[in-house]
Amino acid sequence: MSTTPTTPPTTFRLEDTVALVTGGSRGIGRAITCELAAAGAAVVPVARSTDELESVVAEIEADGGEAFAVPADVTDPDAVADAIDRTVEEFGGLDTVVNNAGFNPDDALGRPEDVTTESFDRTLAVNLSGAYEVATAAAQHLHDNGGGSVVNVASVGGLVGLPRQHPYVASKHGLVGLTKSVALDWAPDVRVNAVAPGYVSTELTEELESNEQLRQSILDRTPLERFADPAEIAGPVVFLASDAASYVTGSCLSVDGGWTAR
Ligand SMILES: NC(=O)c1ccc[n+]([C@@H]2O[C@H](COP(=O)([O-])OP(=O)(O)OC[C@H]3O[C@@H](n4cnc5c(N)ncnc54)[C@H](OP(=O)(O)O)[C@@H]3O)[C@@H](O)[C@H]2O)c1
Repeated sequence: MSTTPTTPPTTFRLEDTVALVTGGSRGIGRAITCELAAAGAAVVPVARSTDELESVVAEIEADGGEAFAVPADVTDPDAVADAIDRTVEEFGGLDTVVNNAGFNPDDALGRPEDVTTESFDRTLAVNLSGAYEVATAAAQHLHDNGGGSVVNVASVGGLVGLPRQHPYVASKHGLVGLTKSVALDWAPDVRVNAVAPGYVSTELTEELESNEQLRQSILDRTPLERFADPAEIAGPVVFLASDAASYVTGSCLSVDGGWTAR
């Protein structure tokens, strides 16, 4: 079999579709937004800070794509509803939702007895309830367009336990469970899947990567022996959003350099 790169099959293309990406302003979400736009979708990055949103829109438009930013906090149901309404007003519908907004705050790291309920709840509010809020607010549009799709950005922490990160791990296990359950309820019209990234070079992992001992322990555990580039998470998301994945629903695709294969 030839290893020469070829043009992707047309089933991976997303022309005439509209995609909303939470946390689409930087890191993995920015890469996903740009890759969905490159595949032909009109894209709507959603995040809280306006400056970064404007910069991703400018980048996509400079490449000939269509983008429209909406500032919103995924923990605010009114702001989420407004983001969905403005997306549909601007682009006439909504086909793909990528729930990528997430964080792992310092005050939620530690032994279970040392982390406050407030820190635990705040982590779940963004990583899990935020995704639920966005998906349910978009539900009618995803069904109306006759074949929408949701892709949730989970984590290897959604598949296995990680020490000193129980709020993050609980939120991501919850997101994988939500993915499977909603996939059953929304079939056959709307497909719902997740990706579970391993360690990716972004602002979220900056501190981790700069600690030589921690970085090395992650590399030792990762068969591909490196952190991922955000673009390497975006490709699998485009696949799951596209017709190339037309028979895939309720799945969680590990994108972790082999981390969970051990
Ligand atoms: N980096 C990794 O190694 C890794 C591994 C596995 C999974 N993940 C997951 O991948 C996703 C993206 O991570 P990342 O590393 O790209 O993080 P990041 O660089 O910190 O970016 C996070 C994005 O989410 C947005 N965001 C955060 N809180 C939000 C809120 N309440 N409402 C709306 N937007 C919000 C941020 O923008 P604003 O701050 O302006 O709102 C930003 O656009 C997260 O769900 C994370 O758990 C990351």
